Amino acid sequence: MPAVEIKNLNFIYSKKTPFEKRALQDINLTVEEGEFLGLVGATGSGKSTLIQHLNGLIKLQDKKRSSVVVNGMSATDKKSLKKLRFEVGMVFQYPEYQLFEDTVAKDVAFGPKNMKLDKDEIDARVRRALEVVGLEYDKFAERSPFDLSGGEKRRVAIAGVIAMQPKVLVLDEPVAGLDPVGREDILSLVKKLQKEVSPTIIMVSHNMDDMARLADRIVALKDGCIVANGTPKEVFCDRKLIEDAGLDLPAATRIADKLIARGVEIPSDIVTMDALSAELGKALRSRITVAAKANDGVSEEDENV
Ligand SMILES: Nc1ncnc2c1ncn2[C@@H]1O[C@H](COP(=O)(O)OP(=O)(O)OP(=O)(O)O)[C@@H](O)[C@H]1O
Ligand SMILES: [Mg+2]
Repeated sequence: MPAVEIKNLNFIYSKKTPFEKRALQDINLTVEEGEFLGLVGATGSGKSTLIQHLNGLIKLQDKKRSSVVVNGMSATDKKSLKKLRFEVGMVFQYPEYQLFEDTVAKDVAFGPKNMKLDKDEIDARVRRALEVVGLEYDKFAERSPFDLSGGEKRRVAIAGVIAMQPKVLVLDEPVAGLDPVGREDILSLVKKLQKEVSPTIIMVSHNMDDMARLADRIVALKDGCIVANGTPKEVFCDRKLIEDAGLDLPAATRIADKLIARGVEIPSDIVTMDALSAELGKALRSRITVAAKANDGVSEEDENV
């Protein structure tokens, strides 16, 4: 059973008004359990609208034709919708803006309390969630979330989501507004959460380097339609599609293109810096070998003369 199955999903904002705006058009998408899906697309392409359907924050407009099913539970059915809210952990952009309790522990406990768990279970989950996001319980639990650094606040907000132990974790631009170190910290945390809490990840990002490095599969939206669905290599190697969808190429791909144009012999499907440095190492080694052989040839000839 796939973790997420979306069929024929359409969505129109301000339907039947002069401000009508079609945000999603015939979306069909399956996400397998254990997959890290990167959702990309220019601003306004429908990414946030799509992910908000996964836990019923946005209701289906055409229940007869469309369906959204997560772990076998339908987002149209009222009963399963309640459960779905806990099965799909949603980390919004700038999640720290949603912190509101006077202590970190109370904030993280908000979700588990809504799940009507008993007190011991709630305490255990709060403790574990804080440890998982790298905030020592004894040091942070009783502090006000508003006195923390930006990165710490974001961790508290993420802890609040994973305390519900969601099976699917959806993150809408989780590193927006962070400095490079903060970005790396949160991205490594997301990978860790996939291993330890939520096996299926759907992450929205405008950063193609992050997507190329982290995602198993990339889905690109344009004007509410899926225009690409494949591995990072498949998607980024289709240069026309990338241009049409208004996306950037990963930096490694741009550098590789320039090097290839200058005659460096490396493959044209490089999408990560790791792959680029490995291929450059190989190309350099083979040039050194060729040069060494040429030198050997010269010296042998010299000796013969
Ligand atoms: N509440 C709303 N009312 C009317 N139109 C909306 C509303 N929210 C979004 N839209 C419109 O729907 C389309 C899709 O918006 P959405 O927020 O899903 O895009 P996005 O891909 O998440 O963009 P971004 O990268 O900027 O976050 C856009 O044209 C947007 O202007
Ligand atoms: Mg958005």
